[in-house]
Amino acid sequence: MVVVVAQDYDTMSREAAKIVAEQVRRKPTSVLSLATGATQFGLYAELVRMHREEGLDFSQVTTFNLDEYLGLAPDHPASFHYYMRTRFFDHVNVRPDRIYIPDGLAADIRQECQAYERAIRNAGGIDLAILGVGRNGHIGFNEPRTEFGSRTRALFLAKRTIEANARFFGGDENAVPRQAISVGIRTIMNSRSILLLASGKAKAPVIAQTVHGPVTEMVPSSVLQLHPDATLIVDEEAASQLKPSPEGFVPGPGTRTMVY
Ligand code: F6R
Repeated sequence: MVVVVAQDYDTMSREAAKIVAEQVRRKPTSVLSLATGATQFGLYAELVRMHREEGLDFSQVTTFNLDEYLGLAPDHPASFHYYMRTRFFDHVNVRPDRIYIPDGLAADIRQECQAYERAIRNAGGIDLAILGVGRNGHIGFNEPRTEFGSRTRALFLAKRTIEANARFFGGDENAVPRQAISVGIRTIMNSRSILLLASGKAKAPVIAQTVHGPVTEMVPSSVLQLHPDATLIVDEEAASQLKPSPEGFVPGPGTRTMVY
């Protein structure tokens, strides 16, 4: 896997945005999967800037968000619908009929999950999956012990995830839904390319496990070692527990790139 270490959060966000922009310019009909979370704030802000100032065109792009809480209305400020609308979709030109986010209020959740997988297939599969990672290694909301063969489904959130995400619910753990819909590990692994972002000291142990650790369902992000085109973009703090690559590194402006 390729690991780009950026000198700080803003550089990480810009480098990630460059990769997304390159994908969209190379293939204007790209299918992207999108993550929410605090890590991605800077990425979406930079993509919005590129759209406004550089004409980055999303008009033919299709997007699939990775996950959504069960039971939250799309206008709830902590829902991923709300996050995506306010941080990205309201400011760029993705066509509304090409935006997919799991419906956490669906009457038939199983059917919703199956339809979501079908929609991804019908769109031609995911070209670029943008991921964040939880401190416990979750990608999407695929918590430790999720089978690598999993697809889109409803699941229970880990206690650590509920604690970590309370910050989006005014600090109140009791307000965090216990369940969510998430695309599965296999859905993610079927993407042609994967881009995972991580920043801050708290993510350093999981980034080391992702890159160096055993590939195990106990650390879902470790599965990315098996993907032929996975790139991690992390800031110095998140990279602080990585071992040097035996192949050295390639320096760039504000970055160094390693291959493991
Ligand atoms: C959310 C998602 C999650 C987050 C992860 C990190 O759509 O996919 O896997 O990426 O929980 O969240 P932050 O960035 O808030 O640390």
